[in-house]
Parts: sequence; C-alpha cells; structure tokens
Amino acid sequence: MKVVREIFGQIPGIGDASLYTITNSNGITLKITDYGGTIQSILVPDKNGKPGDVVLGFDSLEGYLQSHPYIGTIVGRCAGRISNASFILDGNQYRLAKNHGRNHIHGGTTGYDKVLWQASEFADKKGAGITLEYVSHDLEEGYPGYLRLRVTYTLDDDNQVCLDYQATTDKSTHINLTNHSYFNLNGAVAEVYDHELWIPSSRYVVTDQDLIPTGEIGSVEGGPLDFRSPKLIGKDINEVEGGFDLCYVLEGDGTEPLLAARVVHPESGRCMETFTTEPGIQFYSSNFLADIRGKERTPYRKHLALCLEAQHFPDTPNQPDFPSTLLRPGETYNQRTMYKFSNV
Ligand code: BGC
Repeated sequence: MKVVREIFGQIPGIGDASLYTITNSNGITLKITDYGGTIQSILVPDKNGKPGDVVLGFDSLEGYLQSHPYIGTIVGRCAGRISNASFILDGNQYRLAKNHGRNHIHGGTTGYDKVLWQASEFADKKGAGITLEYVSHDLEEGYPGYLRLRVTYTLDDDNQVCLDYQATTDKSTHINLTNHSYFNLNGAVAEVYDHELWIPSSRYVVTDQDLIPTGEIGSVEGGPLDFRSPKLIGKDINEVEGGFDLCYVLEGDGTEPLLAARVVHPESGRCMETFTTEPGIQFYSSNFLADIRGKERTPYRKHLALCLEAQHFPDTPNQPDFPSTLLRPGETYNQRTMYKFSNV
C-alpha cells in the first residue's frame, strides 16, 4: 500500500493544503486533507463490487474553507457543547469562545477543524496513512495549556480506517477529540432512513432544550432511542424532536477499542462498524444540515447522513461525575477509534 499526495488548494495567507489518497487491496480508497484533518472521501464497494463514496464532503478545498458544520473534520480541543462557554479548573475560571449562543461548541471559532495540520506519510505491511501534528497554544480559544497533538489515520487490508489520537500538555487542560464524518452508506442519494443501526448501549446522556447535559444518565429501554436491536433509523426518528442527537454511554474501560455501533445499508450491502476506546458515542442524524452544496453540487439536507462521534460526554469539564477529560502535564491523552467496512 502507498500514499499519494496532491495539492488540494491554497489557504489564503497560510499555504497549500494537500490531499492524501490511500487505497487498499480490497478496493477501499480513503482521502484525507491536512486542512482540518478532514476525511474527504471513503470509497467502499457495494455487495456487487461497485464503489460508492460513503462520506459527505466537498470536491475542492474552497468547499472546506466556507462555513460548514464540521463535515469530516477533526473536532477539538473539546468536542460537543460546553455550557456557558466556561469551566473552572484548579480554582481558575477559563472563558471559552461563545460560538453557539451563550455556549461553546466543538472547540470554538477556529477549532482544530479549521487549521492546517502538519502531515507526514507512512506505509508498511499493516497499512498506510498519514500522521497529522498540530500545536495548540496556551489559551487558544480560551483553553489552558500548550498542547501537542498527533492524529494518525491508517487504512489497512482488513478494511479498517483507524484514527489514533495523542496529546500532551504543559498545563492542566481538558481535551475531548473526535472525528465528525457524516456517513451515508448509499452515497448521499437519499436520507439515511433506510440505514439499519445497532448501538449496544442501554444508557445515554440526558440533555436540556439547548442540548446541554443535565448531569443525569437516562435509560433507552423500549423508547425511540433504543437501538440495542438493529432498527431502521427512519422507524422512530419522528418521535424525537428534530431527529437523533445524543451521546450513548459505552461500557469499555478505555484500554481496547470495543464495538460501539454497526450501520447496515441493506440495499447496497454496505456495513460499517465503529470501535472505540472512548466512553461515549454521539449519534447525530444531521438534523441541522441545510443550505449547503456538497460533492457534485448535491444539496446537503436534514437527515442525509449520520455521524457517530466517538468521544467523552459533552460538557464534561462542568460535570464532575462524568468520565474525566482532564489532561495533566506528564500524562498522554490517547484515543483509538476504528471504522471497519464490510459487505453483508
Ligand atoms: C452535535 C450537533 C451539532 C453538530 C454540528 C454534532 O456533534 O451533536 O448538535 O449540530 O455536531 O455542529
């Protein structure tokens, strides 16, 4: 396997962004740009061997430079909402960018989705990919600590796209990284209502009307949020206002990636499994997606895709009972999330 690099476009005042293409021996092709560490495309064969692009995105860098809802990007320093755009750490209050009403979302105004990462390529027998590095300075978007980040994307011959995240800091801080790919296993020709989803989780993070966690953990038992048996996304979506946008509680201990979700598109026979070391997975049925044209000028609209964002729970810096997002100097933040493709 090898990595092919091409120039993707120019970021005004910053420099060239590249697009990296990796193909495995089963016909899966992954494209990533160093702008925002963004997955631009994943071509996956259907049950008859016909490749189709399973993620939303844009054909050119210009699409990514416009305002868009984190399509395919890395999200950080903290994914999800942080209430009142602030938190207290070791007695100091940190005020973050208010980029979502009075709250903070997905790392702020210029989060890790809008920066140029430094990329290096690698290829070995197990797979090929790129390593992206970025240094986030002290108080960037309001977060304390000079943070050194490294995210590695690998495609292998087991049809897995593996994302490995690492970070170290010089001051105590909070960190909660994820990837914000919008998946549609049928190439974005229709809403994801005909995708079957399985999430083996009985609990979720309860939120208020602004999608800020209340601190309670709820049970999915028997309601529309219950995906413990495979269920079509369209079946109960109208019972949930706007659609699905919630964080499921996962039961792993953070050491080995565990299977957190499986999505099947029966007609094409494409299947995607998500494995993660994280304690939560945000299932978002692209409820707010609107007014944007994506690849081949396709109008991107509500419910056209689903995100499965492996992460810690939203607003963890203000929720002492949630699994911690605290990173202290001398510690290393580690996360591994895999998207594995197959045919059924
Ligand atoms: C959140 C949504 C938000 C979307 C785009 C998702 O992670 O759960 O509420 O609209 O990101 O910002």
